[in-house]
Amino acid sequence: MARERTLSEQAFEQFPQALILVDRETTVLSLNAVGERLTGWASRDAIGRPAADILEVRTETGVNLCAPNGALRRALRLGTRINTHFAYLFRLRTSDDPVRVSYSVSPIRLKGKTPDAAVIIIHDVTPELETIELLQDLHGQADRMERLIGDILAVSRIDSGRISVDLSRVDIGSVVGHVCDEVRPMLNGRSLKCRVPEDLPPVMGEARKLHQILVNLLTNAIKYSEPGTQITFNTRADQSAVRFEVSDQGVGIRKEHMPRLFEKFYRADDPIVRRTSGTGLGLYIVRSLVTMLGGQVHVRSRHGKGTVFTVILPRAEATTRTRPRVAVGAQ
Ligand SMILES: Nc1ncnc2c1ncn2[C@@H]1O[C@H](COP(=O)(O)OP(=O)(O)OP(=O)(O)O)[C@@H](O)[C@H]1O
Ligand SMILES: [Mg+2]
Repeated sequence: MARERTLSEQAFEQFPQALILVDRETTVLSLNAVGERLTGWASRDAIGRPAADILEVRTETGVNLCAPNGALRRALRLGTRINTHFAYLFRLRTSDDPVRVSYSVSPIRLKGKTPDAAVIIIHDVTPELETIELLQDLHGQADRMERLIGDILAVSRIDSGRISVDLSRVDIGSVVGHVCDEVRPMLNGRSLKCRVPEDLPPVMGEARKLHQILVNLLTNAIKYSEPGTQITFNTRADQSAVRFEVSDQGVGIRKEHMPRLFEKFYRADDPIVRRTSGTGLGLYIVRSLVTMLGGQVHVRSRHGKGTVFTVILPRAEATTRTRPRVAVGAQ
């Protein structure tokens, strides 16, 4: 019996997460080694005190585990187990930053239905969160690599003439919808306003190429502007064409850099531009694709104020009879 108690006490003491045993009044009965480390309280000082004295664990919405309306009292009253995945443990004894934790409260019944005690388990999730961040970082790098390889392939197809254009009527609303969905996760605090009139006529083009053109322009608008600024994506039709306009309130482009923007590998010699990663292929691809679709691309910019790229593509009705299918270069 004594041996069993020693073993269970040792198991409690050496459990790899913080364990705090409280009675039904939430008075601390014991605290294991990880609990001592995480809270900063020695178990001999903690025992006999209300749990609220040694422990401040708050959910993301700010509710304190040990408050009168908190999870601990609820578990002791109702006899139900409570789990919370995202919470913060505040270090009451030190000025250290709060620790990200998950916790559970398990009521313990010796006899009868009402709980006599509860064990609080607190798990420091910092290492897991770091792993997630690392994975996200790797994911981001893999995304960038995929985009770069895609760009290099696109350029090599363009340059060798191995690219065909299959012109057909393209419904702009659905392309713009997909484009905006794709770039939204990159916004990071910038706002994106997409304005597409309901009655916009179809253009003569190719949905995939139009998609690639617009994603490139919007990615640039995001890359070369600060969080908190606005990016606007406007589309409007006139008698023969549809205009797509991507405006940002970003770093802008100096006059002397304008003539070379659409060249392969060209990046403006500007410290703000050099801070971002890029290869200088995006606008070369944009101009090549726009030309294949029979359109034009223009740029206006004021250094330090912002930039507007405009793509003009012919309306479907204006061209259906004259240009059903065009192949550029050798297949
Ligand atoms: N919206 C913009 N605001 C300010 N500068 C821009 C903008 N768009 C493009 N530029 C300038 O034009 C250069 C060429 O753009 P491009 O998209 O071809 O290349 P990149 O963005 O540098 O790299 P990549 O697109 O290959 O990842 C940029 O490096 C930047 O100097
Ligand atoms: Mg770019």
